Amino acid sequence: MPAKSKLFLTALKGEPVVRPPFWLMRQAGRYLPEYRAVRATTRDFVSFCLDPEKACAVTLQPIERFGMDAAILFADILLVPHGLGQGVRFVEGEGPRLDPVTDLEGLKPLSFERFHERVGAVYETVRLLSRQLPGDVTLIGFAGAPWTVATYMVAGEGTSDQKPAKLWAYRDPVGFGQLIDLVTTATIDYLAAQIEAGAEVIQIFDTWAGSLADDELQRWVFAPIARIRTELKQRYPNVPVIGFAKGIGPMLAEFAPATGVEAVGLDPTVPLAFARDAVQPAAVVQGNLDPLLLVAGGAAMAARVETILSTLGPGRFVFNLGHGVVPETPPEHVAALSAQIRNWRA
Ligand code: CP3
Repeated sequence: MPAKSKLFLTALKGEPVVRPPFWLMRQAGRYLPEYRAVRATTRDFVSFCLDPEKACAVTLQPIERFGMDAAILFADILLVPHGLGQGVRFVEGEGPRLDPVTDLEGLKPLSFERFHERVGAVYETVRLLSRQLPGDVTLIGFAGAPWTVATYMVAGEGTSDQKPAKLWAYRDPVGFGQLIDLVTTATIDYLAAQIEAGAEVIQIFDTWAGSLADDELQRWVFAPIARIRTELKQRYPNVPVIGFAKGIGPMLAEFAPATGVEAVGLDPTVPLAFARDAVQPAAVVQGNLDPLLLVAGGAAMAARVETILSTLGPGRFVFNLGHGVVPETPPEHVAALSAQIRNWRA
């Protein structure tokens, strides 16, 4: 029997589709009671991500409930520093804590030597998923972009201004560049292993790209993503890559040409006309409903969804949020969103 066709893969190739495919960043998570039930069985979040049976189960939950066209591997961008030997833990109600790496001396203990051993459970999750997913659902693997991952590695926690990483980068770009190179190399191997295990599309999350401009944006955001894209393309020419560089405003027009990614994520602040006129000609675009409209729901959400669909839907487009689903989201609003997109026609 031929494999069922996959709407999401077709759209990412830029080919015509009957309606835009959709999935949601952070579609598996605390807004779902069935996620909280599985999550409650493991205290430590890193151990939870590294439990293939549980990670596979929670990845499938939103697909079973809402029928998204793609499933994103359940894991976290901070598993790359964990794989490099950095201490990573998650404090309940506060977020991630890492043993900070603030200079070249701090970089010395990190190494690629035991990387695959430390994160190998993720590849097992991907293998389980590729066997269990419905035939028309695409499996997305992912990693954080080197800049965003480095902001957590250097600060030792999430920051609103990325100050510690920026200060290191401004004061000692050569030393900071060694950190970026190490993370980039590890990320390429990590994503290659996900593809070998069955990931069909890759998304790269650069959540904090918007804290840089001009030369620094080129050097710490575009250049490492371009290296990842180039090296993956040499090994897996048919696996598309989606780049999500949050908050870079007009520079989003340069993102696909500068890096080679096939698709570009749009955060909620990107004007739709700009996305259509300046980004969509060079790439598939993906986005960009405000996650808080998914919390609000009702007519406000429906109106904005219609505007997004009618502006971007006639072109190369994947429906998504502009950032991740937040924990207070009512699951019924996700069901309403799913119905609206499924029934829409260009
Ligand atoms: O999208 C998905 O459904 C796949 C799984 C996924 C998670 N994190 C699970 C998660 C993905 C793709 C991520 C990416 C991620 N992780 C990013 C980039 C995207 C973004 O949201 O900006 C970042 C910056 C992180 C780092 C991270 N992980 C933080 C800052 C936190 C704490 C904040 C919070 O929401 O609690 C996490 C924890 C985390 N990662 C949770 C989930 C479902 C919540 C923890 C829990 O369930 O106990």
